[in-house]
Amino acid sequence: MASWILYLLPVILFAYPSSAARPQALVTPLTKDPQTLQYLARFNQRTPSIPLNLVVDLGGRYLWVDCDSHYVSSTYHPTPCHSSLCSLESSEYFCDYCFSSPRIGCKDNTCGVWPDNPFARTNNPGELGVDALSLFSTDGSNPSFPISDPSFLFSCAPGFLTRGLAAGASGIAGLGRTRAAPPSQLAAKFSFRRRFALCLPSTQRGTSGALFFGPGPYNFLPGIDASQSLLYTPLLSNPVSIAGSYSAGEPSYEYFIGVTAIKVGDTVLSLNKTLLTIDKKTGYGGTKISTAVPYTTLETSIYKSLTSAFAAALANVTRVAAVAPFEFCYDAKGFGSTRVGPAVPAVNLVLQSEAVYWTIFGANSMVEAADGVLCLAFVEGGRRTMTSIVIGGFQLEDNLVEFDLGYSRVGFSSTLLFRRTTCSNFNFSSSTR
Ligand SMILES: *[C@@H]1O[C@H](CO)[C@@H](O)[C@H](O)[C@H]1NC(C)=O
Ligand SMILES: *[C@@H]1O[C@H](CO)[C@@H](O)[C@H](O)[C@H]1NC(C)=O
Ligand SMILES: *[C@@H]1O[C@H](CO)[C@@H](O)[C@H](O)[C@H]1NC(C)=O
Repeated sequence: MASWILYLLPVILFAYPSSAARPQALVTPLTKDPQTLQYLARFNQRTPSIPLNLVVDLGGRYLWVDCDSHYVSSTYHPTPCHSSLCSLESSEYFCDYCFSSPRIGCKDNTCGVWPDNPFARTNNPGELGVDALSLFSTDGSNPSFPISDPSFLFSCAPGFLTRGLAAGASGIAGLGRTRAAPPSQLAAKFSFRRRFALCLPSTQRGTSGALFFGPGPYNFLPGIDASQSLLYTPLLSNPVSIAGSYSAGEPSYEYFIGVTAIKVGDTVLSLNKTLLTIDKKTGYGGTKISTAVPYTTLETSIYKSLTSAFAAALANVTRVAAVAPFEFCYDAKGFGSTRVGPAVPAVNLVLQSEAVYWTIFGANSMVEAADGVLCLAFVEGGRRTMTSIVIGGFQLEDNLVEFDLGYSRVGFSSTLLFRRTTCSNFNFSSSTR
C-alpha cells in the first residue's frame, strides 16, 4: 500500500492537467492593502472554486491557507506522511496527528510542515495537502480562460496564523525558490520555464497590478510591452537560510541580488563592502528583494550614508517634523514634479557592472507620509540586521520585476512611469467575452 502511494504521488503532482488547454502564461491581479501596506494576489481554489486573497511573500516557501474557517471542497486530499510529495516540500516535514475529530487540515499520519507568517514573525504546524487551484491564462495582454491545476500542493494552517495579515486575507502565497512554491509547481504542471513577474500597484496611481507566471510579453495599456525594458542581474544564492522556519544546513530560498555600490545623484556613497556581500558561513550581508517589508530597509551605516547624501542634496528644501518610521521629511511644496515623481536626485543601485543599475526615482524614493509632507522612503534596519539591504514593496511599485529561476536571474524595468504606463494598466477585461 505504502509503495503504491509513493509511486503514484509524483505522477499526480506532475501529470499534465488533462481537462485544460495548455496556457501560454497565467495572470492574476495584485492589490495593495492601505492599512497593512501588504500586497494581495487573487487565487481561485477548491471545488467548487472560490476566490482567495493571499498576501504575497516573495520569500515564502509555499502557499498556505487558513483551513479552519469553513474549508469546503470535494477535491482536497491530505498528503500522507513519508510520501515523496512530503519530502518534495523540504526535509523539514514531520508526521502530523489530529487531536480532535478529523477534518480538512487535521488528520492522522499526514505530512506536517511549518507554514510561516513573516508579518507576525510566527509559524505553526500545518498539514500539507493538494486541492484544485485555478488562475487565468493570458497572452500577455488580457486574461482569457481559467486554467485549473487539479492537484496543487499547499499547506493548511490554523486560523490564528492569519494574524497580522490584511483584512480579508486567507493566507500567504509564498513565491520563494522552492519546488513547492507556485512558480515551480505551475511551471512543472504547465511546461513553461520557471519564471514569474511581479508588477506591484501604487496606491496613488491605481488599483490593481499584475502577477504573471510563465513567459512574457507583459503588455500594459497603451500597448507597452514592459518585458522590452528589462535589464538583468544574476540571482545570487545564500547558502544559509534566514527564514522563520527552516532545517539546519538548508540554503535560503529568498531572492538575493548583488548590489556593489550605491549612488545618490552623482555621489558614490562610501560603504563598507563587507556588508554588501553574503557571508557564506553565516548568511549575513547582501541584498534581497522582499514584499514582506513595506519600505527598503538598510543596515545602519548604509542608511546613514544614503540619508546624509540625500539630505545634503535637499539642503534648500524646508525640512519638517519626522513622520514615523521616516526620519527625513520635507514640505512637499519645495519639490518640482516630474513624470517619474518629485524632482529629487535618483538613487542608483549599481549591480554586476557599472553599466547595470537599478534606478530609483522620486516616485519610489519619496512617500507622502502626511498631507503636504514628503519623506525619504527608506528605513533603518539596525547594526546587526541579517540582510544589509532589503528592497521593499514601495520601491518595487510600478516597476516590473521578473524572477527567472530557470536562468537564475532577475529582470527589472526601473519605473514604468518613464514608459508612460503603470502596473495598474494591465487590461484585466477578458479577451474571451
Ligand atoms: C564592515 O562590516 C563588517 C561586518 O559587519 C564588520 O565586521 C567590519 O568591522 C566593518 N568594517 C568597518 C571598517 O567598519
Ligand atoms: C541652494 O540655493 C542656493 C541659492 O539659491 C544655491 O546657490 C545653491 O546651489 C543651492 N544648493 C543646492 C544644494 O541646491
Ligand atoms: C481591454 O481589452 C478588451 C478585450 O480585449 C478590449 O475590448 C478593450 O478595448 C481593451 N481596453 C483598452 C482600453 O484597450
